Amino acid sequence: MPFEIRAVEPGEVDDLLTADQRGFGGEPPRPGASRSWTTAELDRTRAAFESGRMVGVSRTYSFELTMPGGAFLPVAAVSWVSVLPTHRRRGVLTQLMTAMHDDARERNEPAAILTASEGSIYGRFGYGVATWRLGLTADRARIAFARPDDDEGCTRLVSREEAELAVPAIYERARGTRAGMVTRPDFWWPQVFWEFMFGRTKAGFVAVHADSQGRDDGYVVYDIAGDWIGGLPDRRLSVIDMQAESAATWIRLWRYVFGVDLVGTVAASNLPIDDPLRHIVVDSRRVRVDYINDHLWVAPLDPLAVLSARSYTVPGRLVIETHAPDGARSKVAVEAAGDGASCVATNETPDIVCDSKVLGMCALGGNRWSELADAGRLDVRRPEVLPLADAMFLTTPAPALLSHF
Ligand SMILES: CC(C)(COP(=O)(O)OP(=O)(O)OC[C@H]1O[C@@H](n2cnc3c(N)ncnc32)[C@H](O)[C@@H]1OP(=O)(O)O)[C@@H](O)C(=O)NCCC(=O)NCCS
Repeated sequence: MPFEIRAVEPGEVDDLLTADQRGFGGEPPRPGASRSWTTAELDRTRAAFESGRMVGVSRTYSFELTMPGGAFLPVAAVSWVSVLPTHRRRGVLTQLMTAMHDDARERNEPAAILTASEGSIYGRFGYGVATWRLGLTADRARIAFARPDDDEGCTRLVSREEAELAVPAIYERARGTRAGMVTRPDFWWPQVFWEFMFGRTKAGFVAVHADSQGRDDGYVVYDIAGDWIGGLPDRRLSVIDMQAESAATWIRLWRYVFGVDLVGTVAASNLPIDDPLRHIVVDSRRVRVDYINDHLWVAPLDPLAVLSARSYTVPGRLVIETHAPDGARSKVAVEAAGDGASCVATNETPDIVCDSKVLGMCALGGNRWSELADAGRLDVRRPEVLPLADAMFLTTPAPALLSHF
């Protein structure tokens, strides 16, 4: 029997938190903790009820996704997906996803985005891995930089109060510089950042970088934890959040991090795959890649609008046909010229035919069409277009979601 699906009422917020915690097997919320992220946009929640009891929850937030070229695409950012262990595999998530996608279409959001607890869940709903994240570890003592530091700016450690003012403003500027980045609305910071990300650190630090004019252009938030063993510090510096408005500032933040004394290991869990650390140290082998994981998943709900919102790196013309999980077909002619691109619906013979999730994988330039063709993920009707398709969709810097939602 289908479950009742509806938005959560303000009086049901405790039930929402409990259902989410039970579904994830997580810790109960700390008494007095911020609920800014919980209570925002309640009209976009979609919960499943059985006999009046909440058995599954989900929600979307109104976000902007940075596209290649710098445009901001309005998207439905899916979050809080959780079904009670007592009600799994009875189609609750399937109903919730349909409800969230219907709502996103009504709001004219051409795509839905999410990060996944498991990589096996969302492909069936039309989501493809659009950006990958890199986890790195390095022994601090083994890291030497190949060139002298030429920073004319400076880095300062700031209090929580100063950070609350400085850090969101820097993030807001940084998110426009890389495809795959998303909004961090005002209601995101208190609960997600200060409570969940910073609040769980043992000793949290915020270092802000300013350029030679004294203008803030980057920051790194990190934790230091561990022991002194036999008189030697065996401690780990974990990067929690690093943001910069330019590649040069990003490198300066790395230099700062590796300059922190009394640290044995430096670790970072969410870096773009084009992170420059290996190129700026004397011995790149000392920068160990712990993993490359899926991070941002994109489901194109309106392929024409998604393709229209990005820029293309080289001129060219391609016809792409996509098939959505609900059977909807879309055929778009992408024509990129030196002075911009135009995308139109067409009836022409396609060059490439694929599931809409494969378009989600390529839309930001996070995967190459040719590697997915080699993997059998798309049907290439004109193989000679693949090098052109790769070149048109190439995105620099590499797309990455340097955030959490
Ligand atoms: C993941 C979760 C939301 C799935 O909910 P659900 O109501 O059991 O999902 P559905 O019954 O609608 O399943 C739909 C399909 O997805 C499959 N599926 C669901 N969860 C899956 C998983 N974790 N791995 C692989 N397949 C999964 C089902 O087998 C089903 O496949 P079918 O259509 O071929 O039969 C639920 O297991 C859960 O709450 N997990 C813990 C919290 C979590 O990981 N949430 C996701 C956060 S991103």
